Amino acid sequence: MGEILKIDGISVSYGSIRALTDVSMNVNEGDIVALIGANGAGKSTLLKAIVGLEPLKSGSISFAGETICQPKHHGLTTDLIARRGIALVPEGRHVFADMTVEENLDMGAFMVRDQSLIEKRKEEMYDFFPILGARRKQKTRSLSGGEQQMMAIARALMSSPRLLLLDEPGLGLAPLIVQDIFSKIRIINEENKVTVFLVEQNARLALRTSGYGYVLENGRIVLSDNGEALLRNERVQKAYLGA
Ligand SMILES: Nc1ncnc2c1ncn2[C@@H]1O[C@H](COP(=O)(O)OP(=O)(O)OP(=O)(O)O)[C@@H](O)[C@H]1O
Ligand SMILES: [Mg+2]
Repeated sequence: MGEILKIDGISVSYGSIRALTDVSMNVNEGDIVALIGANGAGKSTLLKAIVGLEPLKSGSISFAGETICQPKHHGLTTDLIARRGIALVPEGRHVFADMTVEENLDMGAFMVRDQSLIEKRKEEMYDFFPILGARRKQKTRSLSGGEQQMMAIARALMSSPRLLLLDEPGLGLAPLIVQDIFSKIRIINEENKVTVFLVEQNARLALRTSGYGYVLENGRIVLSDNGEALLRNERVQKAYLGA
């Protein structure tokens, strides 16, 4: 399938600190693409730039053939980018802890007008993540970290995105829970045909899950290849796979 996301030579700064320099990448529709990199490499900055939360210094980002981000606020607002079909599950999840699971899912459907469609999607989420169904009336703070991550993913899916951006879905979670979350991500991709772009510190798991991967170092893309090739790459093995 064709290209859905095209990032073309973007740079992003925080004041005088350069976080991304001339980053280019492509995501094809239907793929799972991984971005790996050390702490502070600029991974979260890249995801935030895609949804319009960090302004570009240069370059551009297009989605489904339309330019969505350009320097000097010539891009779309975050709200409009969401409406085009991109949903971000941010690092650290950012759930509304004092709201119930159901209320959190409702928030994810903010752009859906049709109440019966919202109810239908919530039921789909409860089928897909049974623990959320069982806990739908409970405050989110009573959920475990893994359950909160699943809820954050479900909340993002409530808008029925074409592209799902995941920022370290396994962060701080036990290995078995992380496996669980990644198997859900695969199903979301394969069965629901959602294109996935994921950032993950666990490079081995990320690259095994993904058809294609990019390596970000100090705000620059230094390598890109299909997931299997990156797993065999000596530089990747030394820096990210503890080999
Ligand atoms: N709001 C901010 N203000 C100033 N500097 C920032 C801000 N956010 C990030 N940075 C800096 O930009 C660089 C990239 O940060 P970013 O959070 O994108 O990295 P990351 O790859 O997501 O790291 P991590 O693995 O720790 O999540 C870092 O040097 C960071 O300190
Ligand atoms: Mg980050």
